[in-house]
Amino acid sequence: MHVLGGGSNLVIADGGVPGLLLQPSSQDIHPADPIDGRTALRVGAALPLDQLVTYTLQQGLFGLECLSGIPGHVGATPIQNVGAYGAEVADTIIAVEAQCLKTGAHRIFSQADCAFGYRDSYFRRHLGSYFIHAVTFALQPTKPAPLRYRELQQQLSAAAAEDGQAIRNAVLTLRRSKGMVLDPADPHSRSAGSFFKNPIVAQHQADAIQEQYQRSLTPGHSATMPRYPAQAGYSKLSAAWLIEQAGLKRGTRRGPVGISARHSLALVHYGGGRTADLLALAREVQGRVLDHCGVQLAPEPIFLGFKEPPLAHATH
Ligand code: EPU
Repeated sequence: MHVLGGGSNLVIADGGVPGLLLQPSSQDIHPADPIDGRTALRVGAALPLDQLVTYTLQQGLFGLECLSGIPGHVGATPIQNVGAYGAEVADTIIAVEAQCLKTGAHRIFSQADCAFGYRDSYFRRHLGSYFIHAVTFALQPTKPAPLRYRELQQQLSAAAAEDGQAIRNAVLTLRRSKGMVLDPADPHSRSAGSFFKNPIVAQHQADAIQEQYQRSLTPGHSATMPRYPAQAGYSKLSAAWLIEQAGLKRGTRRGPVGISARHSLALVHYGGGRTADLLALAREVQGRVLDHCGVQLAPEPIFLGFKEPPLAHATH
């Protein structure tokens, strides 16, 4: 048995998926007990996330506005702790109702039980073990939290930064510019979003990559490597930047698939391809980045229908 959400973060084997596919059906939104001054909503797993974002803004509730335009269903969001533009669902999820597929037992996971990490959770580490029925979010009835993503901070005035709809509009514009809003008219948007996670590496490795980069620049030029704080002793690097440094430019094509011309972290399907084509490109990207700077990129989507992990560090 496998559970299917919206399918937007999934790579399916060319041979299909043997067995039974289950899909949640509830899209209901019900009020739940408020918590710490926040309004709680219990949401059926099958509701598209973006519909929930729109609903919460209509109700004057904040916390999901930075997640505007993300495809997929609510039930999938806790699995990889969906995040974008300075927010992640771990900020707002307070409970996940799930059924164990092996025993049939129902269980309510608290926020702590979910053990959220960067694109990670208890559910992702036990993939295929649970069917998620509903997710409870706690939302601010006052105003949005301060913006954390630099481009949004720069774009929005102080007044707009407190206006949930203005934040949503700015996020949608940014996502669209990166080909990250599903749109049949935009061939760059035919992807599973970011194909690799941003790697978290030891500080000394990040320093070495940074030094290698500085040395590669024309004398007299300076530029900084994108690098973000992670747990003590580690830095999060930009996978998109590493891919470009490894010589794979945006717009690189390999037959029916390629690296998006709008964002080097998205692998795009231009039509007529097979999963095998996508995997060959993904392997090429992993290999080039590993050779160039010694970093092993881990795929971000989930793989279904494969006997063995089809890529290094794949979740299947
Ligand atoms: N960059 C490049 N080339 C590109 C794009 C970006 O070199 O084509 C470099 C730039 O230096 C940029 C840096 O990468 O400053 C970061 O880029 P961006 O802000 O677009 O974010 P990201 O780290 O590439 C992550 C998430 C996205 C999310 C954005 C915005 C992961 C794996 N991806 O991407 O999530 O939308 O931040 O918050 O964490 C997804 O998970 O599917 C997804 C789209």
